[in-house]
Amino acid sequence: MKDVIILAIETSCDETSMAIVKNGNSVLAMTVLTQMDTHANFGGVVPEIASRMHTENITMVLEDTLKKAQMTVQDVDAIAVTYAPGLLGSLLVGVECAKVLSMVYHKPLIAVNHTMGHIFANAIDSHMVYPCLALIVSGGHTDLVQMNSADDILFLGSTIDDAVGEVYDKVARVLGLKYPGGPNVDRLSKEGEATYSLPKPMTKSTYDFSFSGLKSAVINLVHNEEQRGNEIRKADLARSFQDAAVDELKRKVEFAYQQTNIKEMILAGGVSANQFLRSAIEELSHQYGVHFHVPDYQYCTDNAAMIGAAAYILYQKGKFADFHLDAQSNVDIKAYVEQMKKHD
Ligand code: KG4
Ligand code: ZN
Repeated sequence: MKDVIILAIETSCDETSMAIVKNGNSVLAMTVLTQMDTHANFGGVVPEIASRMHTENITMVLEDTLKKAQMTVQDVDAIAVTYAPGLLGSLLVGVECAKVLSMVYHKPLIAVNHTMGHIFANAIDSHMVYPCLALIVSGGHTDLVQMNSADDILFLGSTIDDAVGEVYDKVARVLGLKYPGGPNVDRLSKEGEATYSLPKPMTKSTYDFSFSGLKSAVINLVHNEEQRGNEIRKADLARSFQDAAVDELKRKVEFAYQQTNIKEMILAGGVSANQFLRSAIEELSHQYGVHFHVPDYQYCTDNAAMIGAAAYILYQKGKFADFHLDAQSNVDIKAYVEQMKKHD
């Protein structure tokens, strides 16, 4: 069979990324230009600045990616782009760039949902095995789905309030750690012990997650201690928080293992770079005889290679977009699954 080469573009948040991916699993070249240091000055992503920086950098990222692969746009079979969900202004930069390339070079256009991209990061240098369970944990999403095949997805549950990555970032901020907070909380927690008692979410026997109670408890604890003039043992608090957050994720995965009897599990999204979470799910999977897979670190946080991997499935099915493609800020995985059912 002829190789399929896809040029993929990702600009949904604060990374301008492009990649050239062969057959959905082999990354020929990838560039990720992060704006993290700029946004760190503001304690979080500033949408207006993010889209402006994407506009400034996207041509350079394209040139760099093509150079690494020693290719021209002419050499690829399709152009893929993240169209949703994310920051509207940021998404638009990628979508318009993809449309122009598709039009000028007469290449088919593929619209990829960012969350599906995170899932298919697991196909890179590997392959997906179905049926599988997928836990997607990022700055904007916390979802659990069952995948019977690449495009037959059953939505199981999602967060009813905050996404876990968002809570990591808030906790980091209250502990005085730099944005993005997740990796910093993760690092600090390794030096501490879980000596603070934090509430456990009350979402038993459902697939829904909840993190806002935990977030408020940490924020209130810090404020109360500060008011009393007590010193906070930051590493211990980071560890206590991380234990509670990971426990909530683990409990839902365990519930899915018991309910479905599926023997494949994948982790995806920025928070899947968390070593503690990886180990917890790995250990749980071992207990249940489930095969566990997680992407390589560089494919956990936002990157275009995962978009190329997800686009390959759509390419094979002939699901192409046209020039009416528009960026959409809020097509979460539940909405995406419903849309797919309608179109089939
Ligand atoms: O997937 P991603 O790059 O962007 C979104 O689609 O949201 O995820 C970013 C999130 C941020 O909230 C960041 O703090 C978190 O992933 N994150 C981590 C770690 N690395 C990144 N959270 C916990 N531990 C980590 N090691
Ligand atoms: Zn993401």
